[in-house]
Amino acid sequence: MKAVVLAGGEATRLRPLTCNIAKTMVPVLNHAFLEHVFGYLKKHNVSDVILALGRQSDQLQSYFGDGSDFDIKIVYSVEDFPMGTAGAVKNAERFLDSSFIVFNGDVFTDIDVTAMMNLHQEKKASVSIALTLVENPTIYGVVETDEKGRVKRFIEKPSWDKVTTNMINAGIYILEPGILNYIAPEAFSMFEHDVFPALLDKGDAIFGYSSDAYWIDIGTPEKYLRLNHDLLHRHISDEGVRFEGESVIHPAAQIEGPVIIGEGSFVGKNSIIKGPTVMGARCRVEEFAFIEGSVLWQNCRVGKEARLRNCVVASNCHIGDEAEVLDNCVLGDNVRIGNGNKLAKGIRIWPNKAIEPSAISF
Ligand code: GDD
Ligand code: MG
Repeated sequence: MKAVVLAGGEATRLRPLTCNIAKTMVPVLNHAFLEHVFGYLKKHNVSDVILALGRQSDQLQSYFGDGSDFDIKIVYSVEDFPMGTAGAVKNAERFLDSSFIVFNGDVFTDIDVTAMMNLHQEKKASVSIALTLVENPTIYGVVETDEKGRVKRFIEKPSWDKVTTNMINAGIYILEPGILNYIAPEAFSMFEHDVFPALLDKGDAIFGYSSDAYWIDIGTPEKYLRLNHDLLHRHISDEGVRFEGESVIHPAAQIEGPVIIGEGSFVGKNSIIKGPTVMGARCRVEEFAFIEGSVLWQNCRVGKEARLRNCVVASNCHIGDEAEVLDNCVLGDNVRIGNGNKLAKGIRIWPNKAIEPSAISF
């Protein structure tokens, strides 16, 4: 079974985390997001992945190579310009000959795509779309189905007055290769705006596969943080601490799981780290610092008596002594927060910024 993984979007909503790194590469539990996607696909007997990429293709190709390090076969389909979700799949046509999966590369889910494939075959569908229930459908593609599961209408990002159901497109499709004939070559086109509505007009058999399994799209920092929290709770017990290599932890430091500490880290005297928290490699937490519910990438320093709560801190950041970074704040790479500075309420700081006053030298 083959899957086309769409990973060529601009990822503007996830900035500043995606200023220097592709959305599909952001670390989740210290592994590139796509590694989790590959794990999921392998569980469902997908052995071949076609990565459909745009601008950041070099970064992904040099990290994933031919996939052998990740136990999956990867080929690349690189676009000269953003071709849209359907245009990207058309561009990969040479790799596709039988029923295949299309997977939005920013989705983490437990949806049973094997069962979805069985239903697809049973219904003799030309397209199947995985569906999931959400609270706010206006930021997704709303999918109306009849009592037999046949899709009646597809409305991408509807305003509230057009919302007739909370069932949305979960970003996983099974397609018959014949569908590729309805996508213009060398042109921008979207499944959501162009292909699905046109197929419905034509009377093609599009079926929905509804699931209440875990599903999240990591399109915003809040959802990225939530996925990290959910997976920490899933993989590590409430008391559990996972050390990913040698680290130095002061005996008077307190760590309450679920926590992951990347290799080569240092956790100083009387500091407290409370889960769900993940720290990347070579982080340094000074005395009396307090960290809770946060995600830190690698090479970060958290100063003496600094406080981090429910925030995301990208690589190489320095948080000054007694500084605070709270509630959904997001720091891009190489950000310096000066001693005693306080950030709260979802402030986002772009890479390489220094928030003064910065009395210490790093
Ligand atoms: N190769 C390639 N080329 N990939 C693209 C392109 C492109 O031009 N444009 C977008 N993608 C990829 C993105 O990288 C992402 O993995 C996926 O396609 C979906 O794009 P998003 O930009 O994340 O779309 P969205 O989240 O607003 O909406 C889509 O996903 C929702 C579920 O998460 C739609 O499919 C909605 O209908 C759906 O509900
Ligand atoms: Mg998305």
